Amino acid sequence: MKQRAQFATKIGVIATTVGSAVGLGNIWRFPYEAGTHGGGAFLMVYLMCVFIIGVPVLCAEFVMGRGTHKNVRGAFKQLHSSRLWHFCSYTGILASLMIISFYSVVAGWVLEYFFQAISGTLTDPTAASHASTRFSAFCSSTFRPVMWTVLFLAINHLIVSRGVQKGIERVSNTLMPMLAFILVALCINGVLLPGAAEGLTFFFLPDFSQITPSVILGAMGQAFFSLSLGLSCMLIYSSYFSDDVRLVRSATTIALLDTLVAVLAGVIVFSAVFSYGVQPEQGPKLVFEVFPSIFAEMPGGYVWAVLFFLLLFFASITSTISMSEISIAFFSEEYSMSRNKAAVISTTIAVVFGIICALSFGVLSDLTIFGMTVFSLFDFVSSNILLPVGGVMFSIFVGWFLDRTFLRNQLTNNGSVKVYTFKIIVFLMRFIAPTAIITIFIYGLI
Ligand code: PFF
Repeated sequence: MKQRAQFATKIGVIATTVGSAVGLGNIWRFPYEAGTHGGGAFLMVYLMCVFIIGVPVLCAEFVMGRGTHKNVRGAFKQLHSSRLWHFCSYTGILASLMIISFYSVVAGWVLEYFFQAISGTLTDPTAASHASTRFSAFCSSTFRPVMWTVLFLAINHLIVSRGVQKGIERVSNTLMPMLAFILVALCINGVLLPGAAEGLTFFFLPDFSQITPSVILGAMGQAFFSLSLGLSCMLIYSSYFSDDVRLVRSATTIALLDTLVAVLAGVIVFSAVFSYGVQPEQGPKLVFEVFPSIFAEMPGGYVWAVLFFLLLFFASITSTISMSEISIAFFSEEYSMSRNKAAVISTTIAVVFGIICALSFGVLSDLTIFGMTVFSLFDFVSSNILLPVGGVMFSIFVGWFLDRTFLRNQLTNNGSVKVYTFKIIVFLMRFIAPTAIITIFIYGLI
C-alpha cells in the first residue's frame, strides 16, 4: 500500500491546523457576527462555545483521524459496522462544498483589495472617505467579483491537486506568525484612535439583555466555523499526524490561538468602527468598509495595507486548502480516484456555486430562499446547521460508541503522556457538548 503522507514536524502540525482555523472566519466573519449580535454579549457566549463545545469536538475529530489515518468515511467504517454512521460522512462533504463556494467570494474581495492597495487607491484619502459606497459598487458589479472568485479557486486548485502536505506545512509555518505580527501592530494603532474606547466597551462589555437564542446560535455557528469543526476538516488533517502528537494539548493550543486572532480582529475593527462612526451591524460588508479608512489614516498605511491583504489572502488559502482536502481525500480514497480527478470535481462544483454566491450582491440579489440570498443561505445552512449537526455526531460517536480503550489510547498516546484534563474532556464530549449543541440548535432555529 502507498505510504500515507504525514506532517513532518510538531510545529508543522500546529501551523497547518491553525492555518486551517485562522482565516476569514476570524478577521471577516467574527467581527461582523459580533457587530450584528450585540458585541460583548456575543463575545462572552462565543468564548464559552469555543471551550465547552469546540475543544471536546476537536478532540473527538482528532481521535478518529489520528486513530485511523483515514478520511472521514474510512474512519467511520474502520471504527463501526453500522451504515448509519458511514452516512454521517456526507454532511461534512456537503458543508465543505458550500463553505468553499461563499468563502472564495470573500477571498476574491481580499484579492481586489490587495490590488487596490498596491495601486494606492485603497489608501487614497478621498477614495477611503467613500469606502462604503465604493465597496458596495464593487461587490454588486458582475465581472470583477466573479473574476476574483474564479481566480482564487484556480490558485487553490493548483495547490491542492499537487498533493499538499509539504506545501501547506511550509507556507503555514512562515506566514501565520507574520500575520499575527501585523494584527498586533494594527491593534496598537486601533486602540490609539480617538473614540476607540467606545468600541472597546461595545466589544468587551457584555450587555446581558442582548443574549437571545439567535445570538447563542450565531456564536455557536461561529465557533464551529472558526475552528473548522464539524465537517471532518480537523479529522482529515489529524489523519496526517504522527503517533506522538499530543491531541488534547494540540486542540487546546489551536482553540487559544484561533480565539486570540479573532479577539485581535475584534479590537481592530471595533476601535475603528466607533472612531469613524460606522454602523457595527453592517453584516458581511463591515470589515471591507472599515479597513480602507484604517489604512488611509495610519502612518505607513500603504505598506501595512499591501502586507495585510497579502497575508489575509494566504490565511484564506490555507483555510480553503483544508476544506478542499475533505472532499479530495474522500473521493480519492473511497472511490480510488486520482487526486487530480478528485480535485477537478470539487473545484468545478465550487466554481459553479462560487459564481452564484459572487452574484448574490448584484444581479442575483433578488434570488432569495427563506428570505436569504444564496450567499447568506450557504453561510447560514453550513455554519448554523450542518457544522453543529456534525459536531453532535462526532462527539456522540467518539464519546459513546467508540471503544473506550481506543479513546484513552489516542488521547494519552497509549498511556505515555499524562493528560490531566482527560476526565473533563471525556465528560464534556459525552454529556455537555451534545446536549448544549442540540439545545442551542433547537432554540435558535425556533
Ligand atoms: N476556520 C476557517 C476560518 O475561520 O476562516 C474557515 C474554515 C476552514 C471552515 C476549514 C471550515 C473548514 F473546514
